[in-house]
Amino acid sequence: MCGIIGYCGPKPAAPILVEGLKRLEYRGYDSAGICVGNERVLQLIKKKGKLQELRQAVPADMLGTYGIGHTRWATHGEVNDTNAHPHFDADGSIAIVHNGIIENYNALREKLEDEGFIFRSETDSEVIAFLLGTLYEGDLEQALKRTCRILKGTYGIVAMHKDEPGVLIGVRNGSPLVLGIGEHEMLLGSDVTAMLAHTKQVIYLEDGEVVRLTADSYRTTDLRDRDVDKKVDYITWELEEIEKDNHRYYMEKEIFEQPESILRAMQGRLDRDSATAHLGGLNMTNRELLEVERIKLVAAGTSYHAGMVATYLIESLARIPCSAELASELRYRNPIVERNSIYFAISQSGETADTLYAMRELQRKGARVLGICNVVGATIPRESDGGVYIHSGPEIAVASTKAFTSQLTALYLFALLIARMRDMSYEQGLVFIDALEAVPEQVRAILDRHAEVEALAKKYAHAEDFLFLGRGINYPVALEGALKLKEISYIHAEGYSAAEIKHGPIALINESTPSLVIIPDDGLREKVISNMKEIKARKGPVIALAVEGDRDVAAIADDVIYVPRAHEWVYPFLMMVPLQLFAYYCALELGRDVDQPRNLAKSVTVE
Ligand code: AGP
Repeated sequence: MCGIIGYCGPKPAAPILVEGLKRLEYRGYDSAGICVGNERVLQLIKKKGKLQELRQAVPADMLGTYGIGHTRWATHGEVNDTNAHPHFDADGSIAIVHNGIIENYNALREKLEDEGFIFRSETDSEVIAFLLGTLYEGDLEQALKRTCRILKGTYGIVAMHKDEPGVLIGVRNGSPLVLGIGEHEMLLGSDVTAMLAHTKQVIYLEDGEVVRLTADSYRTTDLRDRDVDKKVDYITWELEEIEKDNHRYYMEKEIFEQPESILRAMQGRLDRDSATAHLGGLNMTNRELLEVERIKLVAAGTSYHAGMVATYLIESLARIPCSAELASELRYRNPIVERNSIYFAISQSGETADTLYAMRELQRKGARVLGICNVVGATIPRESDGGVYIHSGPEIAVASTKAFTSQLTALYLFALLIARMRDMSYEQGLVFIDALEAVPEQVRAILDRHAEVEALAKKYAHAEDFLFLGRGINYPVALEGALKLKEISYIHAEGYSAAEIKHGPIALINESTPSLVIIPDDGLREKVISNMKEIKARKGPVIALAVEGDRDVAAIADDVIYVPRAHEWVYPFLMMVPLQLFAYYCALELGRDVDQPRNLAKSVTVE
């Protein structure tokens, strides 16, 4: 979603702001703009469309060493230059950028219009700038604090005033804002990728906190003007990790990184001597883990699918009731928090609003909520009661790939830990560890045969509808396969339990509706083969995902993608990777913008 960058320092601000916005592109956006201050003049440039439009509009010799920039993902008002950020107050003295949604903007706007103000844009954000202008009495920080007392909703705001050169003020309430501390320069960003080229020292603002920064100083306070002491954190990501290397797209890079990223998620956490896993970040004693009677996994999108896979695993191995729920649904149904239950909030970004708000609601009810996150220092891991970092490294492509398999890894480790405290024997624990440790190399073997998937994608990419079918622990993999295909190729795809098609979706089957059918060598294999025959009987093309050497499947399916033979528990990893490749190559074949698909944002920070 929208991205923010701010800069104060000795260097020309414009190129730094544009470069910062480039780093934020992955979040998803439809327009961009910057405002640079120089000799008590604020220079504003905003452009609809890709960053290239903005880059071309910014003069090479633009003067000014402090400024703000923004990539907008439209919520209020259409996509055009005027609605893009930054926004000025009524007389152009103040400029602001805003992430989030102002819920009472209509009432505020009407009141200001009654007072004679004329708005330029249709956005909720412009109201902040106008209000700020009316409350300004020579001190931007105080004016912003007064403004925040009136605003309702979520915001990360950065403001600048033409008469306070070299000063930026930032405030956070529900939308992330990070301060970057450089050498005689300071940055503000909606995430750390925007500032990684300049500094690795950061401070994460919490809700209700304000920062005033100049090139050489910063001061953090709350809305009542009390000083707040903040810890300086260190970003562990390297700049190279957010580069594309020789890959065409970040998504391609991230798919091919999976042997390493899965390994990183398990490294140092498996204990062969005790045939268990160590997850110190859970902050739970063995006794507390032993008392757990119910586990709930809360997430959105791909992270939800990872949670769904884990429910099969945890229930089977640990014999503890376990369920997954969409965060957006859980939050508004007044959930019942049972004694001895634990919750996991699963989120790659750690900033997804639906998941964050569900987590807070659960915590209000007294639940223990653990996070499974990738981005260190994001809001969910900061506010959770403990958790596991998945250490995938930055995931830039909108379509989540390596984070999914690393989330699975973390959840598999947790399943092992809690199962070993119950019925799982030492020997069974070792078998499980062997199976999990084999996954990175098995994934590598699948990736080595990517050309076969590419050829199939070329053959099928022009179909208008697809079905993705799986059963048991691979049913969520079918859902995730369908999600991957639709989000980046815009082809309509539905994920179903293979058993369920006879209850309705089989009506969709015809010669031009291909089905991808997941058929691992597990207890449900025969049943899925029967489901596949039902499709073939209706002339539906079938691409089967099967285990190497499965001749029965090859005899029925039109095409087969093979994965290595493995322990039945780990097939979700192995089946997912070809589905990621299939979606990726279909999108390439159709000429889609793979990393930034239309209408989508990487980190969905609004409800
Ligand atoms: C994944 O491909 C999607 N872009 C999306 O479903 C994503 O998984 C979802 O928005 C949740 O994001 P999170 O893991 O950062 O919370």
